[in-house]
Amino acid sequence: MKTIIVYYSLEGNTEFAARSIAQKLGCETLRLEPQKDYPTGKVTKFLWGGKSAVMAETPALKPYTFDSGSYDRIIFASPVWASNITPPIRTFIKENDLTGKRFAAVCCQAGNGAEKVFEKLSALLGAPLDETLVLIDPKAHQNAENEEKIAQFCDRLR
Ligand SMILES: Cc1cc2nc3c(=O)[nH]c(=O)nc-3n(C[C@H](O)[C@H](O)[C@H](O)COP(=O)(O)O)c2cc1C
Repeated sequence: MKTIIVYYSLEGNTEFAARSIAQKLGCETLRLEPQKDYPTGKVTKFLWGGKSAVMAETPALKPYTFDSGSYDRIIFASPVWASNITPPIRTFIKENDLTGKRFAAVCCQAGNGAEKVFEKLSALLGAPLDETLVLIDPKAHQNAENEEKIAQFCDRLR
């Protein structure tokens, strides 16, 4: 199954996970970048990113190349923002015809909220998620538990 990981990452944890999964599955990645990225300051990131996620905004993205017909399956990878899908992922779903694809999803979080994100993502896609993976800040915590969870997720997708 031709697979691509489509991800957004503000501070590198989701990117770390996406790269690790891509390496194990031998698949491509597409990093989504908003034209105006969110601030990374300790307080401002929660204010701006949180508000944008709760308001279900769809910010303009930097130009990217995605040929939908080239893939059977999309793995979405995103941080959890206020128990919501990150806005760049919303933009991507709005901009592309993903009819007939299989889906899986990865959420990186500091505490909780990933299950709500999976529900919202599945509803937005109008399709189930075949597999899901939840990681706690995998770049900041490079431990055996996260490694094992990534390996098992990849096994389930093979
Ligand atoms: C705006 C914002 C909202 C967040 N909301 C949550 C949350 O609801 N639950 C949670 O566990 N972590 C939350 N976090 C923490 C991130 O989901 C977590 O640190 C994640 O691993 C960061 O991924 P990244 O490094 O790829 O950006 C939030 C972070 C930001 C910036």
